[in-house]
Amino acid sequence: MAGRLRCPNCAAPLRLAGRVLRCAGGHAFDVARQGYVALAPPRRRLAPGDSPEMVAARETFLAGGHYRAIAEAITEATPAELIPSAGGAPLALDLGAGTGYYLAALLDDRSGWQGIALDASRPALRRAVRAHPQIAAVACDVWQELPVQDACADLLLNAFAPRNGPEIARVLAPSGALVVVTPTQSHLREIVDALGLLDVDADKQGRLHAALAPRLQSERRRELEFTMTLDHEQLRALIAMGPSAHHLQPRQVAERLARLPQRMRVGASLLIETFRRSGAAGASA
Ligand SMILES: C[S@@+](CC[C@H](N)C(=O)[O-])C[C@H]1O[C@@H](n2cnc3c(N)ncnc32)[C@H](O)[C@@H]1O
Ligand SMILES: [Zn+2]
Repeated sequence: MAGRLRCPNCAAPLRLAGRVLRCAGGHAFDVARQGYVALAPPRRRLAPGDSPEMVAARETFLAGGHYRAIAEAITEATPAELIPSAGGAPLALDLGAGTGYYLAALLDDRSGWQGIALDASRPALRRAVRAHPQIAAVACDVWQELPVQDACADLLLNAFAPRNGPEIARVLAPSGALVVVTPTQSHLREIVDALGLLDVDADKQGRLHAALAPRLQSERRRELEFTMTLDHEQLRALIAMGPSAHHLQPRQVAERLARLPQRMRVGASLLIETFRRSGAAGASA
């Protein structure tokens, strides 16, 4: 997959030699022992990304299968007829991939596809590499220029993660698709109220469309709702993997959880939206 990457310093293509990625301009990037490569410009500090504790909580929660329906909806929202841009295997690029859970599920469904997980969190990338044999993992800041070549991604995936409109438009293949997962204001409503978690921004969807217009347009949008029955341990992991982990101390979480029943029904509510290039084959006019 090295051929899809580009040098973060000079944007030249990268080639893998041994365990080092090199560009023709002489820049070199070591592949870490854990299997990911950091492609950040020199002296630029990487965005922090999720902490080891958040990543561990995410792995625990997702392994419980509670968000399996989201993985299935992403796979279902990914057009079957994507024609690989580079002539090789179709490439799925996951922006803010976390532990690679959704990307791995997609690759399980599409044999012959390859995946690249981009994230700022090294503990997350260590897991993403192990999540599927066809996943390569790159540490980078997704708010900056992405260290991948123009129009290389047949499928771009973005689930609960930052999205950089201009770079999405640059790296998406002409006939590619972008699948975005966003929570609605009803997502986890029962525990948002009971535990004082952060609310979902009311205009999240409006900002998403504004960031992608006019180069990409929504082709299909699905509301996904389901109910989970979660015990305190599972709720603790759910809180610890999300944005409220930055605002709540574990002690506060424990105190508030203690007031709740041992098992609670919690509703998930998400939008799964597929975007195509304006005017691309398959995109509605
Ligand atoms: C809420 S998690 C979602 C992870 C994954 N998509 C999932 O749904 O399981 C957000 C992810 O975005 C990553 N992230 C946040 N800011 C980032 C940045 N500026 N550059 C790259 N990754 C970033 C975090 O490290 C984290 O893994
Ligand atoms: Zn270079």
